[in-house]
Amino acid sequence: MEVSSRSSSPEILVAGQQLVKLIHNLCFAIFIVSVLVVTVIAVTYQASSPMNCSNPAVLAAIKRFNSKTFRKSIVFISYDTPVPGPNPDECDDAWRFRNRREKSWRRYRDYRRFRLAPSDNCTFEVVRAGKFRSGIRAARRINDTIPTVESESELRKGRYLYYTRGGDHCKSMNHYLWSFLCGLGEAKFLNRTFVMDLSVCLAGSYTSTGKDEEGKDFRFYFDFEHLKESAPVVEELDFLRDWKKWDRISFRKVPTYRVTPMQLRKDKNTIVWRQFDGPEPENYWYRVCEGQAAKYIQRPWQAIWKSKRLMNIVSEIAGKMDWDYDALHVVRGEKARNKELWPNLDSDTSPDSLVEKVTKLVSPWRNLYIATNEPFHDYFDKLRSHYKVHLLEDYKEMWGNTSEWHNETMALNGGRPVEFDGYMRVEVDTEVLYRAKLQVETFNNLTRDCKDGINTC
Ligand SMILES: *[C@@H]1O[C@H](CO)[C@@H](O)[C@H](O)[C@H]1NC(C)=O
Ligand SMILES: *[C@@H]1O[C@H](CO)[C@@H](O)[C@H](O)[C@H]1NC(C)=O
Ligand SMILES: *[C@@H]1O[C@H](CO)[C@@H](O)[C@H](O)[C@H]1NC(C)=O
Ligand SMILES: *[C@@H]1O[C@H](CO)[C@@H](O)[C@H](O)[C@H]1NC(C)=O
Ligand SMILES: *[C@@H]1O[C@H](CO)[C@@H](O)[C@H](O)[C@H]1NC(C)=O
Ligand SMILES: *[C@@H]1O[C@H](CO)[C@@H](O)[C@H](O)[C@H]1NC(C)=O
Repeated sequence: MEVSSRSSSPEILVAGQQLVKLIHNLCFAIFIVSVLVVTVIAVTYQASSPMNCSNPAVLAAIKRFNSKTFRKSIVFISYDTPVPGPNPDECDDAWRFRNRREKSWRRYRDYRRFRLAPSDNCTFEVVRAGKFRSGIRAARRINDTIPTVESESELRKGRYLYYTRGGDHCKSMNHYLWSFLCGLGEAKFLNRTFVMDLSVCLAGSYTSTGKDEEGKDFRFYFDFEHLKESAPVVEELDFLRDWKKWDRISFRKVPTYRVTPMQLRKDKNTIVWRQFDGPEPENYWYRVCEGQAAKYIQRPWQAIWKSKRLMNIVSEIAGKMDWDYDALHVVRGEKARNKELWPNLDSDTSPDSLVEKVTKLVSPWRNLYIATNEPFHDYFDKLRSHYKVHLLEDYKEMWGNTSEWHNETMALNGGRPVEFDGYMRVEVDTEVLYRAKLQVETFNNLTRDCKDGINTC
């Protein structure tokens, strides 16, 4: 009782009011602090919540970074909009570029991964950039799915040109292309869709076993995506299955190449079916385009590009040499062994002779890429005391079993690994050669022998 009456005395009351005020102030301070904390957390959270890669400020930061880093070597042509990378502060971006040091205006594609951080005034800054083609989420996927006939009515409405397999099968790639493009050219002339066999037989001259190998996919070597954009094609196996399923499809059998494309022009059958049953060389597809037909049919060479997957390897190799290299083309193999047709080739391309000739043409200590069919890699060792020598074999991890190429070709091949064969080597080797600043050719620059044998030049 006494205590309670004392507690109501004025001094205590004042002290009590002060305490209330103090508590009030303290609460207010705590409130302010907690608002601050929440704000800080919110700001922090905001910064680490996924970055909006399509924000123009992100692209601006990447462009700034690139032009600072590659100003000397590269002209940027166009950029894609960046896409999110695997981490919240990463974006992948792709662009097209031209090489400043290259004479040609050829365009290339690159895509890299960037780590970005917010900077002043709502801008961003690149804090880390990945290497060549690291931004795989921005890479345009290759779409070489095979077009098929979807329905009977689609098949009936269409007009097709079908060539059965001829004597061209398992011949050299040059022969293959010369024949294939004849068929494609005739299809264009007849305004028909070409029924295409995507299974290629690789001649023994390009295989490691030395024997012809069946069942290679056209898409290992050539750009099927580009082909199907350039010319109407359907795939043979699928087409034959449909043809069987929906019988009563009208067709005309053409038993010999002597029936010309001009004679087939008015034909209204759904399918024109050329057969190539005779003995060689009667059974070559390209015979269709000989004689009079040559005036009417143009081979659509522009429809044939090398495989993008191989071209990716080409730009990667050139990129590793910083696009600044000279190249030496050394043809040996069969030709060097054949002294009758190429009497000097072997000695003109001997290790000592190469050193003597090449040092007169190429400045010392340049990057020197050697495109060659010489199988022994130490053959060029003498050049190593004058140049930084590069051979295709030095880049074998690019098609090794951890490479993107390996993954992608395996997917095309029903999950079985694909061998990097002799024709692929030739395709990559020659394309790297074409991109060199200075090219030293075997015929012309190293030997007086003619490319196609004695007295042909
Ligand atoms: C921010 O923008 C203002 C006005 O545009 C500019 O004056 C200032 O320098 C910028 N600050 C930074 C750090 O870029
Ligand atoms: C790939 O191309 C075909 C046409 O050839 C098209 O129908 C298909 O939708 C494309 N696929 C993708 C994933 O873009
Ligand atoms: C080519 O064939 C398509 C249908 O198969 C037809 O629509 C088109 O008019 C034809 N063009 C010519 C030039 O004959
Ligand atoms: C890749 O190839 C190497 C040697 O050719 C082999 O030792 C390795 O097991 C292979 N790796 C895979 C994942 O296939
Ligand atoms: C290849 O595929 C394997 C398994 O799918 C994957 O782990 C690897 O990262 C891929 N490599 C490349 C270079 O794409
Ligand atoms: C190689 O020979 C051709 C033709 O004679 C010539 O135009 C070219 O300049 C030569 N290349 C070099 C690197 O000297």
